[in-house]
Amino acid sequence: MSYSGTTLAGRAAVVTGASSGIGAQIARELSAAGARVLLVGRRTERLGHLAAELGGDAAWLGVDVTADTAPADIVTCALEAFGRLDILVNAAGVFAPAPFTETTDQSLDEQWQVNVRAPFRLARAAAGHLREGSSIIFVSSICGYVGFPNSSAYCATKGAVELLVKSLTAELAPKGVRVNAVAPGNVRTDINAHLLADADYEKQMLASTPAGRIGEVEDIAPAVVFLASPAAAYIHGTSLLVDGGWVAS
Ligand SMILES: NC(=O)c1ccc[n+]([C@@H]2O[C@H](COP(=O)([O-])OP(=O)(O)OC[C@H]3O[C@@H](n4cnc5c(N)ncnc54)[C@H](OP(=O)(O)O)[C@@H]3O)[C@@H](O)[C@H]2O)c1
Repeated sequence: MSYSGTTLAGRAAVVTGASSGIGAQIARELSAAGARVLLVGRRTERLGHLAAELGGDAAWLGVDVTADTAPADIVTCALEAFGRLDILVNAAGVFAPAPFTETTDQSLDEQWQVNVRAPFRLARAAAGHLREGSSIIFVSSICGYVGFPNSSAYCATKGAVELLVKSLTAELAPKGVRVNAVAPGNVRTDINAHLLADADYEKQMLASTPAGRIGEVEDIAPAVVFLASPAAAYIHGTSLLVDGGWVAS
């Protein structure tokens, strides 16, 4: 199967975290590859602008992914808008760095809720509607591979995502549903803008990045389109590092 620019024609996708950063770019590139996309996030004005940019085939839903009813609301909205669901991308995430002994229960719970519990519940709600050839993609992180100081809670959530991908693969691959992750390195978005504003922090990050630059959202989204595409038909349960070589070095 070849990988072409219109490889997702006729497919319907949900992208959480589509109001900014990596999720927004994933939505753009899924749309450019021919998919109809439901954009999910809380900042509805941004979702509306992106839907307008993508054209008539895009829809949006303003929702907190941690809400009890969010999974059912998102799946229902996608099915009503598109009549089917083929691709679920869990990109919504939060990162609240703090020294281990200063990490509050509240911060731990919030990162767990958004980064693990919400995508777990959404994947569960979607699973019954995903036909053979469908795909679930989680946005993990290099923090799911290696430890970082001041990131214990976040690393714990991304480590959980990595094993969730493998566990869901064991259950869903026999049904023809592929489950994978993309694991970005440092990518310039709102989530780390306050950190990268510090030249010393950026220098420190670059020192560990063989590619010699901080990533851009455009570096991440094509990997998601590839994993969602028929070209990745035999790729199950993997986590694709897109990190400029961080973990390798
Ligand atoms: N940037 C990096 O260096 C990097 C590296 C590795 C992994 N990642 C991962 O990439 C993913 C996207 O992050 P990003 O870098 O693109 O940061 P971002 O621009 O801050 O995007 C985060 C997204 O998550 C959504 N979100 C957060 N909490 C939510 C909630 N309770 N309900 C609904 N949506 C929620 C936000 O939407 P609303 O605020 O509109 O709700 C926003 O669209 C995250 O999973 C992050 O962990 C990022």
